[in-house]
Amino acid sequence: MQAFNFKVPTEIVFGRGAEDNVATKLSAYNAHRIFIVYGGGSIVKSGLLGKIESQLQAAGLSTQAKGGVQPNPRLSWVREAVKEAIAFKADFILAIGGGSVIDSAKATAHGTANPEIDVWSFWNGTVKLDKSLPVGAVLTLSAAGSETSDSAVITNEETGKKAGLNTPFNRPAIAFMNPELTFTVPKKQLVCGIADILMHTLERYFTSVKEENALTDRIAESLLTTVIDCSHRAIKDQTDYDAMSEIMYAGTISHCGLTELGRCKDFACHKLGHELSGRFDVTHGASLTAVWGSWARFVYQDDIPRFAQFAEKVWGIHEGTEEERAKAGIERTVAYFQEIDMPTNFTELGIGVQDETVLAELADSCTAGGTKVVANFHPIDKATAIAIYKLANH
Ligand code: NZQ
Ligand code: ZN
Repeated sequence: MQAFNFKVPTEIVFGRGAEDNVATKLSAYNAHRIFIVYGGGSIVKSGLLGKIESQLQAAGLSTQAKGGVQPNPRLSWVREAVKEAIAFKADFILAIGGGSVIDSAKATAHGTANPEIDVWSFWNGTVKLDKSLPVGAVLTLSAAGSETSDSAVITNEETGKKAGLNTPFNRPAIAFMNPELTFTVPKKQLVCGIADILMHTLERYFTSVKEENALTDRIAESLLTTVIDCSHRAIKDQTDYDAMSEIMYAGTISHCGLTELGRCKDFACHKLGHELSGRFDVTHGASLTAVWGSWARFVYQDDIPRFAQFAEKVWGIHEGTEEERAKAGIERTVAYFQEIDMPTNFTELGIGVQDETVLAELADSCTAGGTKVVANFHPIDKATAIAIYKLANH
């Protein structure tokens, strides 16, 4: 096991009615002027926004709300929000929504705490973030894990670049997680979220670190089997509170860092997928399953025993040679994605078969103009990225 440092300071309020504690909890965080961030209107329709605003105002707290965050959240929205939050003199940013809303809230917090700096500078790496405002999240969709993660992903629509920023300042102060709030999520978002949750652990299971790491392996395998089991129940009945609870809890655990302790993360498919979302505006989870099978078939020979372990522990595959088991585990995973109606190639993703020049451009952007190698299980340079995209390009 490799050395690690693990700090997840986010307070989690989990269960039915979790959001009823927002005013009390935010007061305890010394929040007075709360800038609320939300998306395209699902929380207006459900009445959740009104309920939380009234609760905060009744507790004597000032609020101002800004909606309109789109999936694959845009930089221009964030820049506007920063101006409004500064004018409002916000001292706390509250996200009510899924990953796109929470990431936009994180970016708004960074920009508001640093009014002299263009917020994109933190994402393109030209300025190091050294302060921010506290962020809270009322989670309405189990997927990205942004409610406790150290990451925030924003798309610069001028360049088509979707970029992540990892910093301890991205960890929210508090997350309110009521599984009932996810009952209304559209089916497509439900399955994309499930795929993203699985992928956050898969992309920490296959890494360059080969030392024994038994507890982290067992946590990861148990998370994967739990989510797979519950996904079938949730798809059948989205009001199955217990199944939706397990998925919500797993979403947080899968991306808080617990399933990478003692090793590292790889995130190859996230890097490849972000390029697809940046260029084609496809849903994040779908961008990942569209390339995972191609990635796995391309790289599995780097560590056949690891893929065989995955097949045995997650899918109960015990027949055949080690290599046969490894390959069967990959095909079973791809078949599972198809069972839950997730894309496994570019056609299913809805972008169609792409020209080789497009594949080269995607690979170029993924590897910073061919200057960088990303991921570590199988290091991905530009040529490798093109090869993996080609395998998915049907
Ligand atoms: O905008 P509204 O109207 O609220 O509708 C949203 C949106 O259309 C809808 N929705 C959410 N909760 C709902 C609901 N509709 C009905 N009832 C509810 N309870 O779902 C749609 C998708 O929302 P979005 O926030 O985009 O989904 P998700 O949570 O999957 O977030 C995806 C974003 O997070 C990023 C992704 O790249 C993508 O941009 N990620 C963030 C990470 C992080 N910060 O740690 C890690 C991930 O790997 C990921 O990259
Ligand atoms: Zn993800």
